[in-house]
Amino acid sequence: MTMNRPMNAAQAVPNPVSREDYVSYAQQATANASSRPAAAKYFLAADDKMLRIQDVIEQIANANVPVLVTGESGAGKEIIAKAIHNASNRRDKTFVAINCAALPPSLLEAELFGYEKGAFTGAHQRHAGKFEQAQGGTLLLDEVTEMEPALQAKLLRVLQEREIERLGGSGPIPVDVRIIATTNRNLATAVENGQFRQDLYYRLHVINIEVPALRDRPRDIELLANHFLALYSDQFNKALLSFAPDAINKLMTYRWPGNVRELNNVIQRTALLANAQIITARDIPVELGQEISADNWIAALPIGKSLAEVETQFILETLKFHDGNRTHAARTLDISLRTLRNKINEFTALGLHVTAANGGK
Ligand SMILES: Nc1ncnc2c1ncn2[C@@H]1O[C@H](COP(=O)(O)OP(=O)(O)OP(=O)(O)O)[C@@H](O)[C@H]1O
Ligand SMILES: [Mg+2]
Repeated sequence: MTMNRPMNAAQAVPNPVSREDYVSYAQQATANASSRPAAAKYFLAADDKMLRIQDVIEQIANANVPVLVTGESGAGKEIIAKAIHNASNRRDKTFVAINCAALPPSLLEAELFGYEKGAFTGAHQRHAGKFEQAQGGTLLLDEVTEMEPALQAKLLRVLQEREIERLGGSGPIPVDVRIIATTNRNLATAVENGQFRQDLYYRLHVINIEVPALRDRPRDIELLANHFLALYSDQFNKALLSFAPDAINKLMTYRWPGNVRELNNVIQRTALLANAQIITARDIPVELGQEISADNWIAALPIGKSLAEVETQFILETLKFHDGNRTHAARTLDISLRTLRNKINEFTALGLHVTAANGGK
Protein backbone atom coordinates (compact mmCIF):
# COMPACT_ATOMS: atom_id res chain seq x y z
CA MET A 1 0.00 0.00 0.00
CA THR A 2 1.39 3.42 -0.89
CA MET A 3 0.91 6.18 1.57
CA ASN A 4 -0.06 9.75 0.88
CA ARG A 5 1.57 11.25 3.89
CA PRO A 6 0.14 14.63 4.83
CA MET A 7 3.74 15.75 5.45
CA ASN A 8 4.78 15.39 1.80
CA ALA A 9 5.74 18.94 0.88
CA ALA A 10 5.59 18.18 -2.85
CA GLN A 11 1.83 17.83 -2.61
CA ALA A 12 -0.08 21.07 -2.51
CA VAL A 13 -3.08 19.36 -1.00
CA PRO A 14 -2.53 15.90 0.42
CA ASN A 15 -5.06 13.19 -0.27
CA PRO A 16 -6.99 12.36 2.84
CA VAL A 17 -5.87 9.04 4.28
CA SER A 18 -8.30 6.28 5.11
CA ARG A 19 -8.48 4.81 8.58
CA GLU A 20 -6.67 1.61 7.55
CA ASP A 21 -4.02 3.66 5.83
CA TYR A 22 -3.62 5.67 8.97
CA VAL A 23 -2.95 2.61 11.10
CA SER A 24 -0.47 1.40 8.56
CA TYR A 25 1.01 4.89 8.44
CA ALA A 26 1.52 4.98 12.16
CA GLN A 27 3.19 1.58 12.06
CA GLN A 28 5.41 2.52 9.14
CA ALA A 29 6.38 5.83 10.65
CA THR A 30 7.54 4.15 13.82
CA ALA A 31 9.16 1.22 12.06
CA ASN A 32 10.98 3.37 9.50
CA ALA A 33 12.37 5.61 12.17
CA SER A 34 14.61 2.87 13.44
CA SER A 35 14.10 0.01 10.98
CA ARG A 36 12.80 -1.92 13.97
CA PRO A 37 9.29 -3.26 13.65
CA ALA A 38 8.93 -3.42 17.43
CA ALA A 39 9.34 0.34 17.74
CA ALA A 40 5.75 1.13 18.65
CA LYS A 41 5.45 -1.74 21.05
CA TYR A 42 4.71 0.12 24.26
CA PHE A 43 3.67 3.60 23.19
CA LEU A 44 3.53 5.58 19.98
CA ALA A 45 6.92 6.98 19.11
CA ALA A 46 8.86 7.89 15.99
CA ASP A 47 11.60 10.01 17.50
CA ASP A 48 14.95 8.28 18.00
CA LYS A 49 15.22 9.43 21.61
CA MET A 50 11.88 7.82 22.43
CA LEU A 51 12.74 4.66 20.53
CA ARG A 52 15.94 4.43 22.55
CA ILE A 53 13.85 4.78 25.70
CA GLN A 54 11.79 1.79 24.54
CA ASP A 55 15.03 -0.19 24.26
CA VAL A 56 16.08 0.87 27.76
CA ILE A 57 12.64 -0.14 29.05
CA GLU A 58 13.10 -3.63 27.65
CA GLN A 59 16.58 -3.90 29.13
CA ILE A 60 15.53 -2.92 32.63
CA ALA A 61 12.01 -4.33 32.69
CA ASN A 62 12.79 -7.46 34.68
CA ALA A 63 15.41 -6.06 37.00
CA ASN A 64 13.69 -5.20 40.24
CA VAL A 65 15.33 -1.82 40.72
CA PRO A 66 13.50 1.46 41.20
CA VAL A 67 13.20 3.72 38.18
CA LEU A 68 13.00 7.47 38.28
CA VAL A 69 11.12 8.99 35.35
CA THR A 70 11.65 12.71 34.94
CA GLY A 71 10.39 15.19 32.41
CA GLU A 72 8.11 18.15 31.86
CA SER A 73 4.43 18.03 32.66
CA GLY A 74 2.46 16.14 30.04
CA ALA A 75 5.56 14.68 28.35
CA GLY A 76 4.49 11.07 28.96
CA LYS A 77 6.02 9.99 32.29
CA GLU A 78 3.03 7.87 33.22
CA ILE A 79 2.94 6.29 29.76
CA ILE A 80 6.56 5.28 30.31
CA ALA A 81 5.87 3.92 33.79
CA LYS A 82 3.08 1.74 32.36
CA ALA A 83 5.38 0.62 29.55
CA ILE A 84 7.95 -0.57 32.10
CA HIS A 85 5.25 -2.54 33.88
CA ASN A 86 3.91 -4.03 30.63
CA ALA A 87 7.39 -4.97 29.44
CA SER A 88 8.18 -6.74 32.70
CA ASN A 89 7.22 -10.16 33.96
CA ARG A 90 4.96 -8.30 36.40
CA ARG A 91 2.57 -7.38 33.60
CA ASP A 92 -0.14 -9.78 34.80
CA LYS A 93 -0.13 -8.26 38.25
CA THR A 94 -1.48 -4.85 39.18
CA PHE A 95 -0.11 -1.47 38.17
CA VAL A 96 -1.05 0.98 40.90
CA ALA A 97 -0.47 4.74 40.75
CA ILE A 98 -0.65 7.27 43.52
CA ASN A 99 -0.13 11.00 43.24
CA CYS A 100 1.97 12.09 46.22
CA ALA A 101 1.03 15.74 45.69
CA ALA A 102 -2.71 15.20 45.72
CA LEU A 103 -3.20 14.09 49.31
CA PRO A 104 -2.34 15.66 52.66
CA PRO A 105 0.57 13.80 54.36
CA SER A 106 -1.46 11.77 56.88
CA LEU A 107 -3.87 10.56 54.21
CA LEU A 108 -1.01 9.76 51.85
CA GLU A 109 0.60 7.64 54.53
CA ALA A 110 -2.65 5.74 55.16
CA GLU A 111 -3.18 5.26 51.43
CA LEU A 112 0.35 3.96 50.88
CA PHE A 113 0.68 1.65 53.86
CA GLY A 114 -2.94 0.84 54.62
CA TYR A 115 -4.37 0.55 58.12
CA GLU A 116 -6.02 -1.80 60.56
CA LYS A 117 -9.53 -1.30 61.85
CA GLY A 118 -9.46 1.32 64.61
CA ALA A 119 -5.97 2.62 63.71
CA PHE A 120 -7.40 6.15 63.80
CA THR A 121 -10.78 7.82 64.04
CA GLY A 122 -12.70 6.87 60.94
CA ALA A 123 -10.74 3.67 60.29
CA HIS A 124 -13.90 1.53 60.40
CA GLN A 125 -12.36 -1.43 58.66
CA ARG A 126 -9.01 -2.78 57.59
CA HIS A 127 -7.70 -1.18 54.42
CA ALA A 128 -4.91 -2.53 52.24
CA GLY A 129 -2.59 0.24 51.13
CA LYS A 130 -1.18 0.84 47.66
CA PHE A 131 1.94 -1.22 48.42
CA GLU A 132 -0.21 -4.24 49.18
CA GLN A 133 -2.53 -3.57 46.25
CA ALA A 134 0.51 -3.57 43.98
CA GLN A 135 1.83 -6.85 45.42
CA GLY A 136 3.80 -8.65 42.72
CA GLY A 137 3.25 -5.70 40.40
CA THR A 138 4.33 -2.09 40.03
CA LEU A 139 3.70 0.99 42.16
CA LEU A 140 3.98 4.40 40.56
CA LEU A 141 4.74 7.20 43.02
CA ASP A 142 3.77 10.25 41.04
CA GLU A 143 5.36 13.56 41.99
CA VAL A 144 7.51 11.93 44.63
CA THR A 145 9.25 15.26 45.34
CA GLU A 146 6.09 16.41 47.12
CA MET A 147 6.39 13.76 49.81
CA GLU A 148 6.86 15.02 53.37
CA PRO A 149 10.28 14.28 54.97
CA ALA A 150 8.78 11.84 57.52
CA LEU A 151 7.14 9.85 54.75
CA GLN A 152 10.33 9.96 52.68
CA ALA A 153 12.05 8.23 55.59
CA LYS A 154 9.33 5.56 55.66
CA LEU A 155 9.58 5.02 51.93
CA LEU A 156 13.33 4.61 52.20
CA ARG A 157 12.80 1.94 54.81
CA VAL A 158 10.39 0.06 52.54
CA LEU A 159 12.92 0.15 49.72
CA GLN A 160 15.60 -1.22 52.02
CA GLU A 161 13.61 -3.79 53.96
CA ARG A 162 11.03 -4.72 51.31
CA GLU A 163 8.34 -4.82 53.93
CA ILE A 164 5.66 -2.47 55.14
CA GLU A 165 3.57 -2.08 58.24
CA ARG A 166 -0.06 -1.02 58.15
CA LEU A 167 -0.98 1.91 60.40
CA GLY A 168 -2.02 0.41 63.71
CA GLY A 169 -0.71 -2.89 62.38
CA SER A 170 0.80 -5.67 64.39
CA GLY A 171 3.77 -6.60 62.28
CA PRO A 172 5.69 -6.22 59.05
CA ILE A 173 4.22 -7.50 55.78
CA PRO A 174 6.67 -8.49 53.04
CA VAL A 175 6.03 -6.65 49.78
CA ASP A 176 7.35 -7.47 46.34
CA VAL A 177 6.70 -4.29 44.42
CA ARG A 178 8.56 -2.55 41.62
CA ILE A 179 8.78 1.15 42.43
CA ILE A 180 8.65 3.80 39.73
CA ALA A 181 8.82 7.41 40.82
CA THR A 182 8.16 10.48 38.72
CA THR A 183 8.79 14.14 39.15
CA ASN A 184 8.67 17.18 36.94
CA ARG A 185 10.95 19.06 39.30
CA ASN A 186 14.70 18.75 39.38
CA LEU A 187 15.28 16.15 42.08
CA ALA A 188 18.97 16.96 42.48
CA THR A 189 18.02 20.58 43.24
CA ALA A 190 15.37 19.41 45.71
CA VAL A 191 18.13 17.43 47.44
CA GLU A 192 20.42 20.48 47.48
CA ASN A 193 17.63 22.61 48.96
CA GLY A 194 17.06 20.04 51.67
CA GLN A 195 13.54 19.23 50.44
CA PHE A 196 14.35 15.68 49.43
CA ARG A 197 16.44 13.12 51.30
CA GLN A 198 19.73 12.39 49.62
CA ASP A 199 19.73 8.70 50.60
CA LEU A 200 16.26 8.26 49.11
CA TYR A 201 17.39 10.12 46.00
CA TYR A 202 20.24 7.64 45.52
CA ARG A 203 17.88 4.72 46.03
CA LEU A 204 15.39 6.00 43.48
CA HIS A 205 17.97 7.25 41.05
CA VAL A 206 19.44 3.85 40.13
CA ILE A 207 17.90 4.18 36.70
CA ASN A 208 16.73 7.54 35.43
CA ILE A 209 14.65 7.88 32.30
CA GLU A 210 14.43 11.47 31.17
CA VAL A 211 11.43 11.98 28.88
CA PRO A 212 12.30 14.66 26.33
CA ALA A 213 9.90 17.57 25.89
CA LEU A 214 7.60 17.18 22.88
CA ARG A 215 9.15 20.21 21.15
CA ASP A 216 12.42 18.27 21.04
CA ARG A 217 10.86 15.34 19.19
CA PRO A 218 9.45 16.71 15.94
CA ARG A 219 8.76 13.28 14.45
CA ASP A 220 6.60 12.45 17.44
CA ILE A 221 4.65 15.69 16.97
CA GLU A 222 3.66 14.56 13.49
CA LEU A 223 2.95 10.98 14.50
CA LEU A 224 0.93 11.84 17.60
CA ALA A 225 -0.95 14.69 15.88
CA ASN A 226 -2.06 12.23 13.17
CA HIS A 227 -2.91 9.67 15.80
CA PHE A 228 -5.08 12.09 17.78
CA LEU A 229 -6.69 13.45 14.60
CA ALA A 230 -7.74 9.95 13.53
CA LEU A 231 -8.98 9.25 17.04
CA TYR A 232 -11.13 12.37 17.26
CA SER A 233 -12.39 12.12 13.66
CA ASP A 234 -13.79 8.82 14.79
CA GLN A 235 -15.07 10.04 18.14
CA PHE A 236 -16.85 13.03 16.63
CA ASN A 237 -18.21 10.93 13.75
CA LYS A 238 -16.44 12.97 11.12
CA ALA A 239 -14.91 11.72 7.89
CA LEU A 240 -11.23 11.04 8.55
CA LEU A 241 -9.60 14.46 8.84
CA SER A 242 -6.05 15.12 7.70
CA PHE A 243 -3.46 17.88 7.96
CA ALA A 244 -2.30 20.10 5.11
CA PRO A 245 1.51 20.61 5.05
CA ASP A 246 1.22 24.12 6.53
CA ALA A 247 -0.72 22.66 9.46
CA ILE A 248 2.03 20.14 10.14
CA ASN A 249 4.59 22.97 9.93
CA LYS A 250 2.66 24.97 12.47
CA LEU A 251 2.44 21.99 14.82
CA MET A 252 6.18 21.49 14.53
CA THR A 253 7.02 25.15 15.13
CA TYR A 254 4.90 25.61 18.25
CA ARG A 255 6.70 25.08 21.58
CA TRP A 256 4.12 22.82 23.27
CA PRO A 257 4.72 23.92 26.87
CA GLY A 258 2.07 21.37 27.97
CA ASN A 259 3.64 18.66 25.79
CA VAL A 260 1.60 15.65 24.60
CA ARG A 261 -1.33 16.51 26.87
CA GLU A 262 -1.58 19.93 25.24
CA LEU A 263 -1.21 18.44 21.74
CA ASN A 264 -4.03 16.03 22.52
CA ASN A 265 -6.29 18.88 23.68
CA VAL A 266 -5.43 21.10 20.72
CA ILE A 267 -6.14 18.36 18.20
CA GLN A 268 -9.36 17.48 19.98
CA ARG A 269 -10.53 21.09 19.67
CA THR A 270 -9.31 21.26 16.07
CA ALA A 271 -11.21 18.10 15.12
CA LEU A 272 -14.36 19.25 16.85
CA LEU A 273 -14.41 22.62 15.10
CA ALA A 274 -13.18 21.42 11.70
CA ASN A 275 -15.59 22.17 8.89
CA ALA A 276 -13.46 20.78 6.06
CA GLN A 277 -11.74 17.45 5.77
CA ILE A 278 -8.32 19.00 5.42
CA ILE A 279 -7.00 20.92 8.39
CA THR A 280 -4.89 23.96 7.54
CA ALA A 281 -2.59 25.99 9.79
CA ARG A 282 -5.35 28.53 10.43
CA ASP A 283 -7.58 25.83 11.91
CA ILE A 284 -5.10 24.97 14.63
CA PRO A 285 -5.80 27.03 17.76
CA VAL A 286 -2.27 27.78 18.92
CA GLU A 287 -0.47 31.10 18.65
CA LEU A 288 3.06 30.91 17.34
CA GLY A 289 5.65 33.19 18.85
CA GLN A 290 3.20 34.44 21.46
CA GLU A 291 4.97 32.78 24.34
CA ILE A 292 6.00 35.60 26.60
CA SER A 293 9.77 35.71 27.04
CA ALA A 294 11.53 36.48 30.30
CA ASP A 295 12.26 40.00 29.02
CA ASN A 296 8.89 41.17 27.79
CA TRP A 297 6.42 39.93 30.36
CA ILE A 298 6.66 43.15 32.35
CA ALA A 299 5.69 45.13 29.25
CA ALA A 300 2.63 42.88 28.92
CA LEU A 301 1.29 43.67 32.40
CA PRO A 302 -2.27 45.04 32.27
CA ILE A 303 -1.66 48.33 34.06
CA GLY A 304 -5.01 49.93 34.91
CA LYS A 305 -6.56 46.74 36.28
CA SER A 306 -6.96 46.14 39.99
CA LEU A 307 -4.72 43.67 41.77
CA ALA A 308 -7.73 41.45 42.55
CA GLU A 309 -8.80 41.35 38.92
CA VAL A 310 -5.32 40.47 37.73
CA GLU A 311 -4.92 37.83 40.43
CA THR A 312 -8.23 36.24 39.50
CA GLN A 313 -7.44 36.06 35.79
CA PHE A 314 -3.91 34.89 36.49
CA ILE A 315 -5.12 32.00 38.61
CA LEU A 316 -7.89 31.07 36.16
CA GLU A 317 -5.50 31.09 33.20
CA THR A 318 -2.90 29.05 35.08
CA LEU A 319 -5.58 26.49 35.87
CA LYS A 320 -6.64 26.42 32.24
CA PHE A 321 -3.04 25.95 31.13
CA HIS A 322 -2.74 22.97 33.46
CA ASP A 323 -5.95 21.48 32.16
CA GLY A 324 -7.70 22.05 35.48
CA ASN A 325 -5.05 20.11 37.41
CA ARG A 326 -5.08 21.83 40.83
CA THR A 327 -1.81 20.32 41.97
CA HIS A 328 0.16 21.51 38.98
CA ALA A 329 -1.47 24.94 38.98
CA ALA A 330 -0.70 25.42 42.69
CA ARG A 331 2.91 24.44 42.08
CA THR A 332 3.31 26.84 39.16
CA LEU A 333 1.75 29.64 41.20
CA ASP A 334 3.88 28.62 44.19
CA ILE A 335 0.88 28.64 46.53
CA SER A 336 -0.49 25.78 48.59
CA LEU A 337 -3.18 23.52 47.23
CA ARG A 338 -5.37 24.70 50.08
CA THR A 339 -4.97 28.37 49.12
CA LEU A 340 -5.76 27.51 45.52
CA ARG A 341 -8.88 25.59 46.54
CA ASN A 342 -10.06 28.55 48.65
CA LYS A 343 -9.56 30.86 45.67
CA ILE A 344 -11.46 28.48 43.41
CA ASN A 345 -14.35 28.42 45.89
CA GLU A 346 -14.39 32.23 45.85
CA PHE A 347 -14.41 32.31 42.06
CA THR A 348 -17.16 29.72 41.84
CA ALA A 349 -19.25 31.68 44.33
CA LEU A 350 -18.81 34.72 42.07
CA GLY A 351 -20.11 32.67 39.15
CA LEU A 352 -16.78 32.63 37.30
CA HIS A 353 -15.91 29.73 35.04
CA VAL A 354 -13.17 27.58 36.56
CA THR A 355 -11.57 24.84 34.39
CA ALA A 356 -12.74 21.50 35.77
CA ALA A 357 -10.19 19.25 37.44
CA ASN A 358 -8.69 16.65 35.13
CA GLY A 359 -8.86 13.10 36.42
CA GLY A 360 -9.61 14.27 39.93
CA LYS A 361 -5.95 15.08 40.68
N1 LIG B 1 3.52 8.40 23.24
C1 LIG B 1 2.25 8.70 23.52
N2 LIG B 1 1.25 8.18 22.78
C2 LIG B 1 -0.04 8.49 23.05
N3 LIG B 1 -0.43 9.30 24.05
C3 LIG B 1 0.52 9.84 24.81
C4 LIG B 1 1.91 9.58 24.60
N4 LIG B 1 2.63 10.27 25.51
C5 LIG B 1 1.73 10.91 26.27
N5 LIG B 1 0.47 10.67 25.86
C6 LIG B 1 -0.78 11.20 26.45
O1 LIG B 1 -0.52 12.51 26.91
C7 LIG B 1 -1.08 12.73 28.20
C8 LIG B 1 0.01 13.07 29.17
O2 LIG B 1 0.84 11.91 29.38
P1 LIG B 1 1.29 11.45 30.84
O3 LIG B 1 0.12 11.47 31.76
O4 LIG B 1 2.04 10.18 30.71
O5 LIG B 1 2.26 12.67 31.17
P2 LIG B 1 3.08 12.99 32.49
O6 LIG B 1 4.47 13.29 32.08
O7 LIG B 1 2.85 11.90 33.48
O8 LIG B 1 2.35 14.34 32.95
P3 LIG B 1 2.27 15.00 34.44
O9 LIG B 1 3.62 15.57 34.74
O10 LIG B 1 1.27 16.10 34.22
O11 LIG B 1 1.82 13.95 35.38
C9 LIG B 1 -1.84 11.46 28.54
O12 LIG B 1 -3.18 11.62 28.16
C10 LIG B 1 -1.17 10.40 27.69
O13 LIG B 1 -2.04 9.36 27.38
MG1 LIG C 1 1.89 11.93 35.35
